[in-house]
Amino acid sequence: MTQSCRPSGPALASILLTLLLGGPVLASEIVGGRRARPHAWPFMVSLQRHGNHFCGGTLVARNFVMSAAHCVNDMDYRTVQAVLGAHNLRRPERSRQVFSIQQVFQNGFNRDTLQNDIVILKLNGSATINANVQVARLPKQNEGVGRGTQCMAIGWGRLGTNRPQPSILQQLRVTVVSFLCRPTNVCTLVQRRRAGICFGDSGGPLVCKGLVHGIDSFIRGGCGSGYYPDAFAPVAQFANWINSIILRQDDHPQLHPRDPASRTR
Ligand SMILES: *[C@@H]1O[C@H](CO)[C@@H](O)[C@H](O)[C@H]1NC(C)=O
Repeated sequence: MTQSCRPSGPALASILLTLLLGGPVLASEIVGGRRARPHAWPFMVSLQRHGNHFCGGTLVARNFVMSAAHCVNDMDYRTVQAVLGAHNLRRPERSRQVFSIQQVFQNGFNRDTLQNDIVILKLNGSATINANVQVARLPKQNEGVGRGTQCMAIGWGRLGTNRPQPSILQQLRVTVVSFLCRPTNVCTLVQRRRAGICFGDSGGPLVCKGLVHGIDSFIRGGCGSGYYPDAFAPVAQFANWINSIILRQDDHPQLHPRDPASRTR
C-alpha cells in the first residue's frame, strides 16, 4: 500500500486493517513508533486465536475488555482468548493472565460506514490486579478530546505494510486532528513524518492525558500515509453505554478506579 492508493469520493476507501489468521480478521499496526517499556500500559490486551495476535484491546473492568467491533464481528468469539499482562508476544511470560470470552456486547456497529466500531467482551473470570495488569481509566460521557491534544497509540501491529509484526509492544505519539474526520470518530496524525497505526492492532487503545479516548478503527491511504488521519472509535461517546454493561455485570464493582459520578445510574 502506497500513497498512490488514494481514496476517492465520499465513500473513502477506508481500510480495516485485516490480518488473515485462519479467518477474516481486521486489525491495525503501528508504523514509526518505538518499543514500550515493559508493562508501561498494564490495561493493554492482546486478542489471540490459536496463539496468534490479531487485535488489541483495553481492560475496562476486571472481567471486561473493550475492543473494536470489526475485530470480532465475523468470528466465533469462543475461539478468542484475551491475553492480559503481555509485553513480548514471542516469549512465555509469567506476567500473563489468559481468559476466554463469555459474552459479546455490541452497540450498532455499521460495517459500511464503520460507525460504532466498539465491542465489550465479557471474560470468563476476573483478572488479578497487579503491577502488570490494571483497569484503564475512561473519559466521562461526551468529555472527548480537543484538536491538538497529544496522545499515545499503542499496539502489537505490524511495523509497516510489508513489514513483520513486532513481538514487543509499540507506542507512537500522535496528535488529535479534526480535518478529514467525522464527528463520530476521534482522528490523529503524526506530523512531518510517515507514521501511524496499521495492520495488526485494531481494537487497541488511544491514550490521551491518562484516559483511553479511542479504539483503533481504520486508516486511509495506507499505513502511515502522512496525509490521511487515522480514525478511532470515540470512547467518550460510549461512556454511559460501557458503564451500563460493566455496572450491570461486574463481579467486583468496588475495585474500579473510575469516577463514582459516572457510575451512578
Ligand atoms: C477461563 O479461560 C481460560 C483460557 O481459555 C482458562 O485457562 C481458565 O481456566 C478459564 N477460567 C475459568 C474461571 O473458567
